[in-house]
Amino acid sequence: MEIMGCCKIFAAVSYVWNRFNVGILYVCLGEYMAKTKNTTVFFCQNCGHESSKWLGQCPGCRQWNTFVEEKAVTGSQGKSAKSHMGEKNIPAALSEISLEEEDRMGTGMQELDRVLGGGLIRGSLTLVGGDPGIGKSTLLLQVCRNLSADGRQVLYVSGEESLKQIKIRANRIGEFNGNLKLLCETGLETIEETIRHTKPDVVVIDSIQTMYHEAISSAPGSVSQVREATGVFLQLAKGLNIAVFIVGHVTKEGTVAGPRVLEHMVDTVLYFEGDRHASYRILRGVKNRFGSTNEIGVFEMAACGLREVFNPSEFMLSGKPKEASGSVVVCSVEGTRPMLIEIQALVCHSSFGIPRRQTTGADFNRVNLLIAVLEKRLGLSLGNCDAYVNIAGGLKIQEPATDLGIAMAIVSSFKNKVIDSKMIAVGEVGLSGEVRGVSMIQARVQEAKKLGFSTCVIPSVCTESVKEIAGIRVIGVDNVGDAIDLL
Ligand code: TYD
Ligand code: MG
Repeated sequence: MEIMGCCKIFAAVSYVWNRFNVGILYVCLGEYMAKTKNTTVFFCQNCGHESSKWLGQCPGCRQWNTFVEEKAVTGSQGKSAKSHMGEKNIPAALSEISLEEEDRMGTGMQELDRVLGGGLIRGSLTLVGGDPGIGKSTLLLQVCRNLSADGRQVLYVSGEESLKQIKIRANRIGEFNGNLKLLCETGLETIEETIRHTKPDVVVIDSIQTMYHEAISSAPGSVSQVREATGVFLQLAKGLNIAVFIVGHVTKEGTVAGPRVLEHMVDTVLYFEGDRHASYRILRGVKNRFGSTNEIGVFEMAACGLREVFNPSEFMLSGKPKEASGSVVVCSVEGTRPMLIEIQALVCHSSFGIPRRQTTGADFNRVNLLIAVLEKRLGLSLGNCDAYVNIAGGLKIQEPATDLGIAMAIVSSFKNKVIDSKMIAVGEVGLSGEVRGVSMIQARVQEAKKLGFSTCVIPSVCTESVKEIAGIRVIGVDNVGDAIDLL
């Protein structure tokens, strides 16, 4: 009220004063009003949807009870958006922009470089998400070691562990040199000051959920805090040309905790996933401004840190039983990478009225659909059988190209007939039982050949494209029945 009153007085005075003076006064008042405005807003903690009032259900992600009241910050968020690209804000022609070799840094881990699109870009902001304990800190500490060994200045900021705890982890990983500096801090302003002062080449923030800005009253990990912290690191990365990694924890639903906005703000989003009980880990690119997405890197968690797995097929097939019914090898493509995996099925007589169907790693609905196709098109009576389908190694595969393999494994177990252990099957199965074409068939057949398989069962429409590949027998099939006849 006081301020509004003042405005009126100044407006009246403006008739008498010259316009210039009054203009300045208005600007000052505007700023004063913005600073003193103490609004609260509600944020959905699941997707970051913003609302001026509390809502039971989020209109953005349809989740219930996710709105939390937070103080809105005026000023500092605007600052993050302003001129984060550096001092030179002059329009430039594409020909004037020079790219240097130096702009892509090798991380010393080929699997990570592949996912990043050929190396780490200077001035980029990369988000590494994953379940707690999956190995995000270990991966990034190893990257820090490799980069510092290459002569880069690296700063590792931990908000979760003490210096001693990091040292214990580092001792397991190996030798480190003095180019890596550690900082245990959660205060955003201190971290910003340190980065501006020391100007490292690479910064790792572990984790974004622990970062805290004093101007924002909400707790660390809340939408406003996470968004503000990401804004600050974005500004630092672009302004100082530093590559910044931020670690983000994921929620029960599997997305990075806090806002989706975080994924929009960063250049690259990598997810580190895997079965906690299996030793392999998969690093998956889901967004990449500098390379292809859906590339994967495969690692194995060993006693001395993460080890790269250059040939995942070999790794996935180790331990495959010989002469067992219900087991078949398929080839799935992740990104541009073919990977052989074993599918196992167990079909047995059901002791209950309603047969039990269960899948691990394969899509449950897809398996039910395939069982229905087998019943209808091949006349198999699976209606009174329990069926369990498992992708060995704990991998999660959604690719339709594995359909034929799943169908063959189910029939193999049902009829108790062993599938040739030197055979792979690839193909998508349609509702009429037809086997449809799949992408990247050459790569799949080559991978099978490389690993010593002698026969590939593929859709007949694809046989033409693989006829040049010698040394492996290719059988084209038109429908599931043809494939089953091969058992
Ligand atoms: P960590 O990197 O702390 O996971 P995150 O940062 O994603 O929470 O990984 C911790 C797990 O990794 C822990 O269960 C122990 C295991 N580990 C190894 O098996 N070998 C090792 O050399 C290291 C450093 C960790
Ligand atoms: Mg960690």
